[in-house]
Amino acid sequence: MTSTAHSPEWNRLVAHAHTMGTVHMRDLFAHDPARFGRFSVREGDLLLDFSKNRIDTETLDLLMDLARASNLESWRQRMFAGERINTTENRAVLHTALRAASNAAILVDGQNVMPQIRAVHDRMRIFSDKIRSGEWLGATGAPISDVVNIGIGGSDLGPAMVVEALTPYLRPDLRVHFVSNVDGSHIHETLQKCNPATTLFIVASKTFTTQETIANATTARGWLVEALGAPATPRHFVALSTNREKVIEFGIDPDHMFEFWDWVGGRFSLWSAIGLSIAVAIGFDRYTQLLDGARQMDHHFQSRPLDQNLPVILAMIGVWNANFLGASTLAVLPYDQHLRRLPAYLQQLDMESNGKGTALDGSAIAHTTGPVVFGDAGTNGQHAFYQLIHQGTQMIPCDFLVAANSLTPLDNHHQLVLANALAQPEALMKGKTLDESKAELLAEGRNPNDIDRLAPHRVFPGNRPSNMLVYKTLDPHTLGMIIALYEHKVFVQGIIWGIDSFDQWGVELGKVLAKAILPELTAPGVAQGHDCSTNGLIAEIKKLRD
Ligand code: F6P
Repeated sequence: MTSTAHSPEWNRLVAHAHTMGTVHMRDLFAHDPARFGRFSVREGDLLLDFSKNRIDTETLDLLMDLARASNLESWRQRMFAGERINTTENRAVLHTALRAASNAAILVDGQNVMPQIRAVHDRMRIFSDKIRSGEWLGATGAPISDVVNIGIGGSDLGPAMVVEALTPYLRPDLRVHFVSNVDGSHIHETLQKCNPATTLFIVASKTFTTQETIANATTARGWLVEALGAPATPRHFVALSTNREKVIEFGIDPDHMFEFWDWVGGRFSLWSAIGLSIAVAIGFDRYTQLLDGARQMDHHFQSRPLDQNLPVILAMIGVWNANFLGASTLAVLPYDQHLRRLPAYLQQLDMESNGKGTALDGSAIAHTTGPVVFGDAGTNGQHAFYQLIHQGTQMIPCDFLVAANSLTPLDNHHQLVLANALAQPEALMKGKTLDESKAELLAEGRNPNDIDRLAPHRVFPGNRPSNMLVYKTLDPHTLGMIIALYEHKVFVQGIIWGIDSFDQWGVELGKVLAKAILPELTAPGVAQGHDCSTNGLIAEIKKLRD
């Protein structure tokens, strides 16, 4: 794949951006009362309103021309068909197979992967049913009350985000915890809430070699063995992995291992065995609804014309903002407490996938690729970082998400949530002019001096882009649709930017250096093998530890 940057389609967008640079969205809305209908798309109960972007119909046409020139449709077909499109790791990219219709046949190297997917999902159903019904007993004969998922990155963020998002579906007598950080406080403070006799550990690691996960799992095992003795471990440890040998080496019974495969990327793995903690938390039937939602989005992505295709539109609007209007960030702003962890989840999905500076052909990339993703639940973010989004000097595109109905209806709380969720994009789009600001101050009864002095501070430039996703309720099906929407958005952008969205070589160097530094922290003498800053910091930390 070569990037279409600086192709004729790209250059037409560069020229078009010059024209659009002088346009204010206020005027676009004023001149086109049908703008909302023109620039919004539905799939089931999910609506994407992208009308509050600096676009017109020509922009959309030009963006779709760029998508077509990048052979998006052919790449999409190759991904779903199980071709090895992750070329730097020589792997297929088939998280979509994990939620495909069970009678489908999807081939990797001529072998249908669906029977093995079904077999693991069946085992997940049986196991999660046993935990939830109390049939699975710990070593002392007590049922499980606490499940601790030990994993990091894709083996943590997806399940942790989903379990929190679906809080209304959780059972108070079955708590699910997530431990990821190698900082001992994380596992320590989690274990303090648990009773060894009723705790099950799910060790989730695709490679089963990840330093943080193995360290946390080893500590958990020590805690359990100290309380119940070594023979208790098989009733309290299961593994989710692609690496059977390492699971056995760690001491987990391979019969208690739930397998997945190298064609499931870590950050796309919550649909695989990595979703076991989700199935335990909400029950396998609801986990299936999550998969069904994702499948609906897969179907939409494969079948809808590009200009009515939610992931394609979301992706191409992001490309427009990043490559033609100069944005380098994306704020993810769910107006839903239960989606509090969505920004962290999307940070990995987006930044680990598209934070790349090398094209598939090995050449250096000169255009902007993946944005810096950040965010928090509304309305918390409003009282923290929105100031910069409204009046700062950078343009920060925003994705807002809100449910029409809350699963926690309490007085008028949800009305307040909705009002705020709708007000912020409107304010970002409209802004407030100097004249409006002056008129407002005059109405407040301020004197002319104060009006002149204060008015500029109360100007909002507006014209700041945002997307809005509205859905009926945050149920498992809808959540599955939303996650798959973002997965495909990231894929589409990777195609436009000419990169491999499915590798993550950028995380390796730090891991290697940490391994080298580890023994030096306790070795006598002064470390010499690094730059003088790192050597000096090692010496300083050793001194402070003494
Ligand atoms: O951070 C790098 C990474 O490889 C992620 O891609 C992955 O999700 C995470 O580490 C955890 O890896 P594993 O599941 O193999 O423990």
